[in-house]
Amino acid sequence: MRRLVSETEVRPRQLVLPMFVKEGASEAAEISSMPGVYQHTRDSLRKAAVEAVQAGVGGIMLFGVPAVRDAVGSGGTDPDGILNAALADLRAELGDSTVLMSDCCLDEFTDHGHCGVLAADGSVDNDATLEVYGEMAVAQARAGAHVVGPSGMMDGQIAFIRNALDAAGLQDTGILAYAAKYASAFYGPFRDAVESQLAGDRKTYQQDPANAREALREVQLDLAEGADMVMVKPALLYLDVLRAVAEISDVPVAAYQISGEYAMIEAAARNGWIDRERSILESLTSIRRAGADIVLTYWAVEAARWLDR
Ligand code: PBG
Repeated sequence: MRRLVSETEVRPRQLVLPMFVKEGASEAAEISSMPGVYQHTRDSLRKAAVEAVQAGVGGIMLFGVPAVRDAVGSGGTDPDGILNAALADLRAELGDSTVLMSDCCLDEFTDHGHCGVLAADGSVDNDATLEVYGEMAVAQARAGAHVVGPSGMMDGQIAFIRNALDAAGLQDTGILAYAAKYASAFYGPFRDAVESQLAGDRKTYQQDPANAREALREVQLDLAEGADMVMVKPALLYLDVLRAVAEISDVPVAAYQISGEYAMIEAAARNGWIDRERSILESLTSIRRAGADIVLTYWAVEAARWLDR
């Protein structure tokens, strides 16, 4: 009876696996605050991505960890930079068997750790950053990304990237807009994963956790600017925002179950305080129930296997 009347389903095709690739690494290294998640080498990334596709995930979101960083994040726009090189590897290996997405943001590539370039006074220069995002998106699309994911929360980033892609003849590359991204304490383990250099915070560009209306405004702007999908991030702490966004969006809505959400459940499960598999599946079901069409989750492969049983 419960199976007959169940309102919400989670399917492997709806899950996107975020992955990390580290420049110059000789072996895959487990991230201490994210047990079970690795900084991959280019080789181990390829193998793990093939396994993810075999498990049926709908997409992969790739993040790069460069060996060298500078003030303007040159590694992000360089076609030979780690993220672009690894995107090319994956596209060659996977073709169109899954949707290949790439993080279009500077924080992994800058020596100050901010998502954009800085003005003389040390603040993030929104419009100068857009120029770099445009170049980065074109480089990622040329390397093989089907979809670019601007996660830096700069104003006007979607329109700017859309124009840059179109001008380069890359009309078919899609944009997953990190539309409502909050300045969250729960990104901590991710910052370990990318060896973030950030000293301060991102409160001049990411949203205040207290605000929901602001998220709807961000989504409306991104839709008007040409977003192909919009995302809410984090997921579990913002299910109300997710529901509200799902109600107004006429493009698919994604939610990012972030590193801190992953770490909390893993830590509690390791202590025997909660049932790991049930907790993971319940969390994914809740995110879908709130309105997400697509869920980015570090458990994508494992969950896909459970869901296929
Ligand atoms: C920034 C970015 C962040 C995440 C993805 N892209 C974090 C941040 O703003 O520091 C976080 C993802 C996670 O916590 O799992 N480009």
